Formats: sequence, structure tokens, C-alpha cells
Amino acid sequence: MSNAIPAHVPPELVVDFDIFNPPGADTDYFAAWQTLQHADGDGLVWTTANGGHWIATRGAVVRALWADAARLSSEVLAVTPGLGETMRLIPLQQDGAEHKSFRAAVMKGFGGRHIVALEASVTALAEELIADLIRRGTCDFMPDFAEILPVHVFLSMIDVPVTDRAILRPLGAQLTRPDGTMGVVELRDAVDAYLHPYIAARLAQPGDDLLSRIIAEPIEGRAWTLDEAMRMARNILFAGLDTVAAMLGMIAMHLARHPEDQQLLRENPTLIPAAADELMRRYPSASVSRNAVVDVPVGSLTIRAGDIVYLPGVLHNLDPACFDTPERVDFDRKLNPIHHTTFGAGAHRCVGVGLARMEVIAFLRAWLAAMPPFAIDPARPTTMRAGNVGILTSLPLVWQV
Ligand code: HEM
Repeated sequence: MSNAIPAHVPPELVVDFDIFNPPGADTDYFAAWQTLQHADGDGLVWTTANGGHWIATRGAVVRALWADAARLSSEVLAVTPGLGETMRLIPLQQDGAEHKSFRAAVMKGFGGRHIVALEASVTALAEELIADLIRRGTCDFMPDFAEILPVHVFLSMIDVPVTDRAILRPLGAQLTRPDGTMGVVELRDAVDAYLHPYIAARLAQPGDDLLSRIIAEPIEGRAWTLDEAMRMARNILFAGLDTVAAMLGMIAMHLARHPEDQQLLRENPTLIPAAADELMRRYPSASVSRNAVVDVPVGSLTIRAGDIVYLPGVLHNLDPACFDTPERVDFDRKLNPIHHTTFGAGAHRCVGVGLARMEVIAFLRAWLAAMPPFAIDPARPTTMRAGNVGILTSLPLVWQV
């Protein structure tokens, strides 16, 4: 890809903003993105980084483009060159009628009663991890808790040994924040090598797990092929690990910084589901890429067919034109979760939202019930990394034993 600025991009809208490394993201991912909040134009800027692409900067534009699946395809997957062609995720990279049939099958696997059935084991794991940590008086929340829970959930969903946690977690991180040590083909092959025997076995003999339930759903009256089942499993793996780990981290960081919110939820655990929804709005860490299939006018600008546009959830959920005092966490906010973009908008809105919400609520209930008041350890750095999912890399917590 060339870094030349296309003729249809007004020069005053050109910035040098690397979504994998925005300035200051290592300490505050959200503030780093908010540096673009006041960039003008019609809610779009063009960055020369990562091959050159648009970034939507105004909340209303982020949301409108996200929901416009007819003109903006998700085939490109991400601004990382070659990633989309290599991963071919189902249903994330599909469009139109094809997407609809595959998504319908995937949705069946994530039905509400299946999520309810998983809840007890997620709570049990959370309690087990907490019981081990509590005596220490300190932890790094990311490796000690946030990164463990979602991998465990994924492994139990496809019914494979939970001892495989150590293999999967680094692969999930490579997709959302590649560190250059693995090429995209190498990454896909590593994931496929892991998943292949399980997928082939479930296709031959379906079990009672989520993966089996999905591939038991016919697509337009025919069975899934092995290739399609692999692409779908890849999608679920990559979509459900880092996103949940990132969310758990951001929420723990918020509570560590706000002892009054800890106290409120400890004293009123019935507020936890509404608090989870508000915290998930306040800390959106997923952003997506789209490739225009036709020209898309935005105010006086045009996203030309073939251009890539990047849609950061942060710049929608934290835009004061879209949410009142958006940076304030308000458990009484009358929030319609469909209105924020933490889980996307429109045809591709997250199919795992019910599962993610359950994991967050289970964490909050178990953690607040068992842990004494906790705070960020001022002696150790809290660090973050940006990418398609922005995440804390270290969140040192302390509490009295
Ligand atoms: C807090 C955690 C999560 C967040 C923030 C999140 C966020 C998102 C977002 C923003 C999208 C839209 C992508 C797009 O428009 O291109 C999405 C789609 C998706 N998510 Fe999630 N997600 C989370 C958890 C999960 C979990 C736990 C799973 C499954 C295990 C999952 C599976 C999926 C799938 C399969 C899609 C693609 C849907 C489609 O294309 O129709 N997600 N997610």
C-alpha cells in the first residue's frame, strides 16, 4: 500500500495517527483517541499511517458509518495489510445475504439459555481465582484475572481442555495488536493448527458444545464445510478473548480509582447489571475497519469506493454530542445499550454481547463480594496498549489483607 494522499482528500484533513500507537496511549488509551475529537472537517480525517485511511472522528459519523453495511463492507477486517484476505472470518467479514445466513446460525449458538447455563462455571472460576489472590494483598489484574477468565470460557464453549489457555491467549493478542513477531499467515496457521482437530471432530460427531450447536445449523439447507467451520471458529476465538479481557481490566481500573462506586455496588449488588452496562459504555475499547464498496458522501467529503475508514468506538461513546457528560460514570443513566458502539452497530453488532455481559456481571458480583476495598498500587505503573482492541497491559492493584 502506498502512503500517497489521494486527490479527493483535502490536505488540511491529513494527520499522522497510527491506530496501533497513538501518542500517549501507553498510559491513557482513551485520551490518546480523544486528541482527534476536535479535529474538524465533517467528522473525518485522513491518516497517512498504516497505508493511509480515513478515521471517523465525530460520534454521529462513527455510528452512522458503522451501521451502513450496505455501502461499507467489513471484508477488509483491519488496517493491517493482508489480514482480511488471510483470516476470511465468518460472519465478521461477510456482507449481505451471505452474512445473514451464517450470522443466524452463529446467533443460535449464543442463545440466552446457553449463556445462563454457562454462568455457574464462570462464577466458580472467578471465585476460585479470587480466593487464590485475596491472601496476597496485591495482584496484576491483567495476567492474574482478566486474561484468564475469557480464555477459560472459550475453551469450555468448544469443550476442549482448559489447560490449553497458555496457547490461545497470545494468539488472540496478536490479532488485535500485532507486535511484528508473527506474520498474518503464520498467525492464522497457528490458530488453525490448534483448532483443526477439534473442529473436524465436531463436524464428524457433534457434541453438546457451542461450536457443535452452530455447525449443526444448516446454511441455506446444506451442511457447513470444514473451511467455513474453521473460519467461524477463528472469528469466535479472536472476537471473544481480548475484548473481554480489555473490558474487565477497564472496569477494574475504574473501580480501583473510584472507591465510592465500589462501596455503592457492594452495598447494593442489585445495581450491578445496570452498572455493568454503563461501565461498558464508558470504556469502549474496540474499533473496526470498513472498505467502501461505493462512494459514500459525508458532508462535503467523499469516502471513495475502495477507501478504508476506521471507526473508533471511543469517539462515539465519549462524544458529548451523543451522550451527556460522557466521561461521567452514572449508574442511573437511562441507557439503551443499543445506542452506544461498544458492541458495534447494525448488521454486525456483536453476537457475543450476552456472553460478554454475563462475564462482566459474574466478575463484578464475585469480586465485590469477596475483595476488600482495593486501589491502584501507586508504586507500580499502570500501562496500556492501543490497537483494534485497546487494553491494559498491567493493572497493579493493592488491598489490605
Ligand atoms: C466486552 C466484550 C466484547 C466487545 C467489546 C465486543 C465488541 C464487538 C464489536 C464492536 C463487534 C462488531 C464488529 C464490526 O462491526 O466489525 C463485534 C462483533 C462480533 N463479536 Fe464481539 N465483543 C465482545 C465479546 C464477544 C464475545 C465474548 C464473543 C464470542 C465468544 C464475540 C463474538 C463476536 C462475533 C462472532 C462478532 C461478529 C458478528 C457479525 O459479524 O455478525 N464478541 N464484537
